[in-house]
Amino acid sequence: MITAPKGTHDILPGDAERWQRLEEAARAVLGRYGYGEIRTPMFESTELFAKGVGQATDIVGKEMYTFADKKDRSLSLRPEGTAAVVRAVLEGRLYDGQGTLRLYYLGPMFRYERMQKGRQRQFHQLGVEVFGPASPELDAEVIDALMAFLGALGIEGSQLLVNSIGDGACRPVYRERLTAFIDSIADRLCEECLRRKETNPLRVLDCKNPACIAATAAAPSILDALCEPCARHFAAVCRALEVYGLAYRVEPRLVRGLDYYMRTTFEVVHGNLGAQNALGGGGRYDGLSELLGGPHLPGVGWAAGIERLLLTVPPPAAAAGVDTAVVAVGEAPMLKALALAQKLRQRGESVVMDFKGTSFKAQMKAANKCRARRALILGEDELQGGVVTVKDLASGEQRTIKEDEL
Ligand code: HAM
Repeated sequence: MITAPKGTHDILPGDAERWQRLEEAARAVLGRYGYGEIRTPMFESTELFAKGVGQATDIVGKEMYTFADKKDRSLSLRPEGTAAVVRAVLEGRLYDGQGTLRLYYLGPMFRYERMQKGRQRQFHQLGVEVFGPASPELDAEVIDALMAFLGALGIEGSQLLVNSIGDGACRPVYRERLTAFIDSIADRLCEECLRRKETNPLRVLDCKNPACIAATAAAPSILDALCEPCARHFAAVCRALEVYGLAYRVEPRLVRGLDYYMRTTFEVVHGNLGAQNALGGGGRYDGLSELLGGPHLPGVGWAAGIERLLLTVPPPAAAAGVDTAVVAVGEAPMLKALALAQKLRQRGESVVMDFKGTSFKAQMKAANKCRARRALILGEDELQGGVVTVKDLASGEQRTIKEDEL
């Protein structure tokens, strides 16, 4: 038996309807904020993620599916959507320099990670990216869209964490201060943290190891190190979140695992998820366009993991089945039924037929199993009389009608 690759899963019938409902909710909610859909390729040049997400991040350094094509170009399955969307916006000149460009995407992402509840190697994201204004109120609107989406899914008990990680002016100063602190407690940190101290010391605050969390409890807070413009931006984000009536917690240790962020970062966590507790996260990335060779183009966005959302949404009510199941006994009735089924479908009904050629009883059982609303029964008697029997499978009520009255 060949099985699915580790870290992937099939989305089976039954489950697929839950995905469709989630996607419908996403389109409905994001439509109200003026978002349009964008679809980018599943793979990109490796350089895009190395530059955009950052060579020193775990995502690029350890987790990418990278391969050479037949012309020896280095390509990678996309581990996230932001860098690709920025590339597409620049390449397609989608932003005219005015107004606000609001985009969303839905699709698979790939990261070679250790398997855990809520963590796969192929997973799916709903993401949004918004370009144009560098306004803090836009950050709050983007966060409000995420919370509205979670609300539409019926997810309760999630918690919104927000932070600012400063900009090119104040972060280097904080980085130095933090590095000095880390040096003073280095003997209490794990190997990984010592490595991160060299590449990206802010990520030390993100370590899940309890000993490292305890050791860094007294680390200096980035919020005390923000420059005046960054502090003003963050205060304005919080003020707008309050206007939206969103409950949030300021979390100065929230640094996120991608290098392109500046100023606002945020994450939504949920208690039901275990160690991988982030339903979604995002932030502002005003420097990413320039990093990829484009003009200055401020951006802000988020992505949410669909598998994790589905672990959190309340179980759905039994899904609706089809309108009609055809029950035809005998060869001539079966052939007649083919035409009737086609006629009903042309009128917009959903119709299924059981082709096993089994007994009336077995076909009725199959009709119930696929949760049909009614059975259309056709035997030799019906065929002779030019009639069909229609049975309501919920009430059991049945009547015989002329075929042309169907
Ligand atoms: P991220 O935090 O790396 O951000 O991923 C966003 C969400 O994707 C996570 O909160 C989680 O729900 C889901 N996720 C990530 N990795 C996995 C995995 N291995 N298995 C299952 N779910 C996973 C980004 O990707 C940024 N591009 C978000 C963003 C958009 N920032 C600005 N714009």
